[in-house]
Amino acid sequence: MKNARIFKTNDGSIGLYNEELDEIYHSREGAQKESIEKFIIPSDFEKRTKKSSCIRLLDVCYGIGYNSKNALCFYKNCDIVIDALEWDIELVEYSKSADFYKPEINEFLKGERKLGNSKINFYVDDARKTVLKLNEPYDVIFLDAFAPNKLPTLWSVEFFAQLKRLLLPDGVLVTYCSAQPVRRAMILNNFFVGKMLNDKNHSFVTIAALDEKLIKFPLDEIELGLTNTKAAIPYRDEKLNLSAEEMFKRRENEVKHSALQGASAYLKKVR
Ligand SMILES: C[S@@+](CC[C@H](N)C(=O)[O-])C[C@H]1O[C@@H](n2cnc3c(N)ncnc32)[C@H](O)[C@@H]1O
Repeated sequence: MKNARIFKTNDGSIGLYNEELDEIYHSREGAQKESIEKFIIPSDFEKRTKKSSCIRLLDVCYGIGYNSKNALCFYKNCDIVIDALEWDIELVEYSKSADFYKPEINEFLKGERKLGNSKINFYVDDARKTVLKLNEPYDVIFLDAFAPNKLPTLWSVEFFAQLKRLLLPDGVLVTYCSAQPVRRAMILNNFFVGKMLNDKNHSFVTIAALDEKLIKFPLDEIELGLTNTKAAIPYRDEKLNLSAEEMFKRRENEVKHSALQGASAYLKKVR
């Protein structure tokens, strides 16, 4: 793997670190734990598999596949059909060959075993190009891209518009990210937006849905207020082809000329 270095995370599962971006692919607290807490639980994945004969999942940023693998574990409840988007073929191959996950799932990924009628299709390209080719909607979309301040390409208003086009009316889009520009980009696409609360009642994870009833914990007044500050000016990428540098520059320029209130000034006023 070109820029990726392997390390052991605190739950014993393996994680990767990207040297070029100085960014981790997986939380140091635990790659496996992170996938369960930030994707499987917030999407109500298990409950969905008990209510349906087939769940269609779009896994944007498959990496070494924790999110897809954890989803596939529910294959006994219903068929899991996954479209996995990842531009680094070496990660996809490593995810199949390395024996860091349950053998039955690894065997399935290598095509050596069936899991009911479950399926996984890999699209190895820039996810911005792939989404334009997809047309069948999904019950669940996972967005596990690198943090927006490191690589903004999969967090633009226009990329979320594509994800919205691909989401079923009773589907959910889940991401670990709670950055203001990301929440703003969702709101600009008319998603209902919510969060998860941890055991200390702190907000983490962002959940977007087209049906308000699917949002158990909506953003509160202050969180919504923050999405109207300068800090929440979103990334733009009309043709889904800008470089990260172009996206950063464009946003910086917008921030510089914006008349919106800053986030700290807003918080000082409301707290
Ligand atoms: C935070 S990691 C995802 C970790 C992954 N979900 C897992 O379980 O291993 C982000 C991943 O997004 C991929 N990626 C980043 N930008 C991409 C793009 N524009 N299109 C496709 N994949 C991309 C990276 O190669 C990396 O594997």
